[in-house]
Amino acid sequence: MSARPLRQQVRVVIGAKALTVGQLTFVRDDRREYSGFSYASEWLRSRDSFEVSPDLPLRAGFVTRRAPSDLDSPFPFALADTAPDAWAARVIKRAHAKRRAEDPTLTPLTAFDYLASVDDFSRLGALRLVNSQGEFLRSSTQHRTPQLLDLGKIAAAAHKVEAGNDTAADLAYLLGKATSLGGLRPKCTVLEEDGALAIGKFASVNDERSIVRGEVLALRVLAHAGSQAARARVVTIEGADVAVIRRFDRSSDGARVPYLSGGSLLQSRRDEDRAYTELADAIRRIGAAPADDLRELWRRLVINFLITNVDDHLWNVGFLYAGDGKWRLAPAFDVNPFPDKARESKTWLSEASGPITSLEQLLTEAPYFGLARAEAEQAAGAIALKLAHWRQIAESEDVGLNGAELAEFAPAFEHDDARAALALVH
Ligand SMILES: Nc1ncnc2c1ncn2[C@@H]1O[C@H](COP(=O)(O)OP(=O)(O)O)[C@@H](O)[C@H]1O
Ligand SMILES: [Mg+2]
Repeated sequence: MSARPLRQQVRVVIGAKALTVGQLTFVRDDRREYSGFSYASEWLRSRDSFEVSPDLPLRAGFVTRRAPSDLDSPFPFALADTAPDAWAARVIKRAHAKRRAEDPTLTPLTAFDYLASVDDFSRLGALRLVNSQGEFLRSSTQHRTPQLLDLGKIAAAAHKVEAGNDTAADLAYLLGKATSLGGLRPKCTVLEEDGALAIGKFASVNDERSIVRGEVLALRVLAHAGSQAARARVVTIEGADVAVIRRFDRSSDGARVPYLSGGSLLQSRRDEDRAYTELADAIRRIGAAPADDLRELWRRLVINFLITNVDDHLWNVGFLYAGDGKWRLAPAFDVNPFPDKARESKTWLSEASGPITSLEQLLTEAPYFGLARAEAEQAAGAIALKLAHWRQIAESEDVGLNGAELAEFAPAFEHDDARAALALVH
């Protein structure tokens, strides 16, 4: 059956003042989906204008995009970064399926429906969508942003979605609250006591250990080793452990900070093998402080390797806009120790060397990130010394792992590569 082409148009605006950036058109023609974007002349003339997405060069004209595969988005990269992915899409899809059961005239969801269903208040970064009635997509007036106290109820509803026994009421409750960000794991938006925007990440029915506490541990360990990591703590409400992670795409006064994922910066397809050296090249090109960010990136690769964080795909790296068309590396996020996995990175180190599987590779490639070999050896040794404190951090109040759980995580932190790194300390 071939339906009439469906066409939707929205204005893309930025920040609290909602300055117009351009016009986004979405077309679904039969099963093909594509988008078109053009900058507004007022944006091109503005002193504050910048290239909001690497596939949208700052000039007049229409840029069209079709998804290269089912895994990829039909939208420009920076907008695709704000779209729901596995977890949020599942909530939206199930809610729609329930509505469709009641009203069979409803059409299937399109990529635009997913993009537009994200709550405006918590949409990632600074880009926002406005429909022809002048309303933000999606307006948050209908959904109060949850407080820490609500986390127990949200965790319970999220759990039911995962288990497949959710009700229409559970889904209606989760829409907006639990559908703002991408990623696979169940999560929601939450306001901290001081009003700051944060993410709540829940346990999943598939977890074999305390992933929630493990993630907070990894973020704390990164910070302890001198890297920038998202601020995180474990909150337990009504028996549910939640990793509460402060959003770094909002400044202390609540302003929205433009965001780009590493995957978007490299205009990568989801299923492509790309390399950190390519990210380094991009940082040299668009970085506001390239020397600092290159070193920081290399340090994170060393830490990821030594704590066995092997889910390091390019959408788990972010960049925040720093003004004048330049970007800074965002704090580290979505880092997890995987005690049951082999130490092999998802993102390659360089095209020639492939995935990271040894400390030696990281030391050899360090000069590409601005560290001479001797300096890299010293830095890796110093990192290893800090990582050796992981047990104390794990047992601290904000992480709260107990003895048996520590034993489960130990193989991620205590292994031959960690001992080899420690041996670099003179
Ligand atoms: N502290 C944060 N501040 C702002 N955005 C974040 C933060 N942490 C994660 N994100 C965004 O939310 C997405 C999903 O979060 P992530 O922790 O990666 O979840 P998952 O474990 O499900 O992949 C990330 O890809 C990133 O776009
Ligand atoms: Mg992620």
